[in-house]
Amino acid sequence: MPRRPLLAGNWKMHLTISEAKKLASSIAQSAADVQDRDVMISPPFTALAAVAETLSDTNIILAGQNASWAAQGAFTGDISPLMLKDAGCSMAILGHSERRHIFGESNDMINKRVQSCLSTDLVPILCIGETLEEREAENTFRVLDKQVRLGLKDVSLKTGNEIIVAYEPVWAIGTGKTASADQAQEVHAFVRNLLEDIFEKNIATEIRILYGGSVNAENVDVLMAQKDVDGALVGGAALKTESFDRIIHFQS
Ligand code: PGA
Repeated sequence: MPRRPLLAGNWKMHLTISEAKKLASSIAQSAADVQDRDVMISPPFTALAAVAETLSDTNIILAGQNASWAAQGAFTGDISPLMLKDAGCSMAILGHSERRHIFGESNDMINKRVQSCLSTDLVPILCIGETLEEREAENTFRVLDKQVRLGLKDVSLKTGNEIIVAYEPVWAIGTGKTASADQAQEVHAFVRNLLEDIFEKNIATEIRILYGGSVNAENVDVLMAQKDVDGALVGGAALKTESFDRIIHFQS
């Protein structure tokens, strides 16, 4: 079975509830003709329930931008996987570089979040990526190996559809600098091999690996044409209907 492409919009800390509903409904209109691919959006927590209602007759997937490792309790500021499901989510973005670098999230914390999502039937999107300094020092593969192995520590899967990995080089996020198609494919193939080492080969083959970092209407086709690029995690260009419309209608 070929992997089903996933085009995902990470709205980060943007939009009020009414703005989010408006954007979600115009994305739903653009995505109405899309059948052979999945479309996901990840609004801020405050807008999730309202956007879920807007999307109720559509196939658009809703995701949280993070998820706690606990089901409930004294964790001020955190949102549990159960709460995300209750608000209409079926996925959660974990270990985004902004969480790692601005908020100091460690591989260990991210691993606990991955496990709590899996035990709540919420599909984790594990984000990994090297900084410019790490790439220039030729440490890219070492960093990614660590992020993948520690992020997926003690994780067992029945199928590869239970989890998604997103490769987002930190130097490409929000900078307008995208990895070239060759650079993306090289890393995605490396991650695929790593997943084969961690899980059984048939499971690793099913896991979708998204590329993220300045994906836009102009570069999406060439990135999606790469063998191991199974989708895109999009920030800035996901906040505008025209560019996200082009992204979800990528041609390869
Ligand atoms: P960007 O963000 O598309 O604005 O670079 C991507 C992301 O952070 O997921």
